[in-house]
Amino acid sequence: MHRQDFPILKDGLIYLDSGATSLKPQCVIDKITEYYRDYSANAHRGDYDLSLKVDYEYENARDEIKDFINARYREEIVFTSGSTDSLNMIATGFFRQYLEEGDEIVITKSEHASNVMPWFRLAKEIGCKIVYIPLDDNYYVTIENVKRVINENTKLIALAEITNVVGDIRPIKEITKLAHDNNAFVVVDGAQSVPHLKTNVVDSDIDFLAFSGHKMCGPTGIGVLYGKKELLDKLIPTNLGGGMNESFDDEDNVYLKQLPHRLEAGTPNIAGAIGLGQAIKYLKSIGLENIHKHEVSLRKYLVDNLIKIPHIDIINVESDSGIVAFNVDGIFSQDVAYYLNKYHICVRAGNHCAKVLKSATNVANTLRVSLYFYNTKEEIDLLVKLLSDKNKILREML
Ligand code: ALA
Repeated sequence: MHRQDFPILKDGLIYLDSGATSLKPQCVIDKITEYYRDYSANAHRGDYDLSLKVDYEYENARDEIKDFINARYREEIVFTSGSTDSLNMIATGFFRQYLEEGDEIVITKSEHASNVMPWFRLAKEIGCKIVYIPLDDNYYVTIENVKRVINENTKLIALAEITNVVGDIRPIKEITKLAHDNNAFVVVDGAQSVPHLKTNVVDSDIDFLAFSGHKMCGPTGIGVLYGKKELLDKLIPTNLGGGMNESFDDEDNVYLKQLPHRLEAGTPNIAGAIGLGQAIKYLKSIGLENIHKHEVSLRKYLVDNLIKIPHIDIINVESDSGIVAFNVDGIFSQDVAYYLNKYHICVRAGNHCAKVLKSATNVANTLRVSLYFYNTKEEIDLLVKLLSDKNKILREML
């Protein structure tokens, strides 16, 4: 779908690594170029036309994002540098103040580093306990298993909506209901879900959400922190500086701005924000339902073919996302990735920053195909053909 929108695809590249970062359509490239070419002034700092145009475009992007995830207020949308930045801000800006010794932070073993390491650090600093929701035989989170770990000490459940290796879709709305019934907050890592599934933060009632622009056809270096307004109001800015204060004096009397600018210190990534706004308009024009439907059908096609190859072990046969993780028996995943690269096929190999996952799956490294709407059956056919001949892989991999 929509392959003609992606200039990078015109020379036969087979890009199967959208979980790492997505490709960029021409309309996003044009929008960023337009900013740098036609109105590259700062935001919120000038009283001249060029700067007012920047303010308009930058704040318009915020409104696009607000509508895209169905947030109630534009103040709930904070620009960050990406999911990692957002999750760290949530951990250190909000939960460092809120958590106390003995509190429990609930995560899983299939989370990305960005949704593990900030909690590890807080747990160490405050004396909290990290509790893992047991994964089922498919490495899924079930509501029954969440019930098994939640108790009066649980203060926070932090989960990816879609994990980046297993690709499972978590029942976030049900988990949130359960968490709230037990006075716990819910933080969602939406890096792999917001680009692919309709997100509705009012319906799911989650407390915080983090996602990145570059995985959803937008630029790198821009992301979003969503938080319920009453919670963001309590989030202490992790960065101090220009743009986020109303005034300060030589006696350290500091008055901060209102949300969201209070949490956006320094010159923001203006081109990134504007580019992300354009990417969202573009994704909306295709339709998230169409994107998800295409990915699910392509994934099924890939798995149905890979499963017939005796030397391939698939980690996540069952999943409703576009992520398929697997290994070629006896061959290091990076060697297979290098072999596929010779045919201009891009896949990711390794642990994919989900380094705790191996303690659940007993598999340290995998090859990962992560699909998006621009992938095709023909691309999958070539991938499967190249993987089906193990001798050819062994011959050509180095
Ligand atoms: N988090 C990104 C991935 O899963 C980089 O590949």
